[in-house]
Amino acid sequence: MNRNQIIDSETKLMSNLYWKRGLVASKGQGSLLWDLNGKEYIDCTSNYGVAIVGHCHPKVVEAVKLQTEQLMSCHGAYFNEARSKFLEKLNKVAPKELTRSFLSNSGTEAVEFAFKLAKKKTGKTEIIAMMNAFHGKSMGALSATWKKKYKEGFGPMLPGFKHAPYGNIQKINENITSETAAIIVEPIQGEGGINVPPQDFLKQLREICDEKNILLIFDEIQTGMGRTGKMFACQHSGVTPDIMCISKGVASGLPLGVTMSKEEVMSAVGIGDHSSTFGGGPIQCAAGAATIDVLVEEKLPEKAMIKGKYIFEKLHEMSTKYKTIRESRGMGLMIGVELRFEVINIMNFCQERGVLTLEAGRNILRLLPSLVITQNQIDKVLNVLNESFEVEESERFPR
Ligand SMILES: Cc1ncc(COP(=O)(O)O)c(C=O)c1O
Repeated sequence: MNRNQIIDSETKLMSNLYWKRGLVASKGQGSLLWDLNGKEYIDCTSNYGVAIVGHCHPKVVEAVKLQTEQLMSCHGAYFNEARSKFLEKLNKVAPKELTRSFLSNSGTEAVEFAFKLAKKKTGKTEIIAMMNAFHGKSMGALSATWKKKYKEGFGPMLPGFKHAPYGNIQKINENITSETAAIIVEPIQGEGGINVPPQDFLKQLREICDEKNILLIFDEIQTGMGRTGKMFACQHSGVTPDIMCISKGVASGLPLGVTMSKEEVMSAVGIGDHSSTFGGGPIQCAAGAATIDVLVEEKLPEKAMIKGKYIFEKLHEMSTKYKTIRESRGMGLMIGVELRFEVINIMNFCQERGVLTLEAGRNILRLLPSLVITQNQIDKVLNVLNESFEVEESERFPR
């Protein structure tokens, strides 16, 4: 099919749910993506944080090929080596108290099960989520998600969900009742604007939860798998949640969601309480195991931290130069640049010049490059960003 045929058929046949960027993706390798006409892009989206070890990492491709020839599906009712290997590897890199996992197919499903687990374990019914949180769009996760626009026309939301200001321990405390089963937070908020909480926030949450017998859930779907400079963002503060949700990068693009928990939490559920036909299938697990191997062998979380520091330094320099930039924030290769205006012009400018970016709200530019992005590619991205800010500046603040 040619470019126009592909665009026409998707436009005609697909649900109208995505903001399309006019790009027909055809091939990927490392941090590069090519469209159907062979135009090359540096992909600073890594497909919404998914291609964490780069597009088509040879080790992941090989693992998927081998597993595809061996066995493509395997229900959780049967034991399977690919699944066991994945779980063993995950347990080695995750906080050590989180020994048990439920495997599903997406982030939102990982969150759904976290809520069911918290309710079953505590016998309580309420969940406190954060303002500006994003946890997915299935009904439970959507109830915890903050943005009103995502909820319009889909009400009523599930009962028992409340929202408190992110980072504000006192306000969170005020929302706790005798029915609070769990508090869910992203260690750094992604979709909601790349918001980094105050330094002791996670520690203080842990203390409150311990004191009041509430389960603490970390949604590491965007922050996990090395994105912020550690395998999981909670490892920066040494705080272990009772339940942790993972997805996106965990299997380099194959559908895999993981809800990890402490032994005593997972023991609250038993046969039939929850399930997923495809969850933890062998191809996803083989991809997941290979992804973890690559992250560890290539020391990618550590490298993400170093690359991130360099990028933040350069962004800081730009912010002193351009009024367009309000601030840059994030950690490792989870990067947000808050602008004084909508980001759409900047995104379009970058795409035209071969750099793909994301937004996190109307005026926040989000960069989630793969952790294998090279120094040369980083410098090209920074040059294009610099140019885009310069153009924006000259239009918004003419001299
Ligand atoms: C923090 C967080 N939680 C949950 C989700 C939902 O994941 P999925 O789109 O795989 O359902 C996302 C997706 O962007 C996310 O960033």
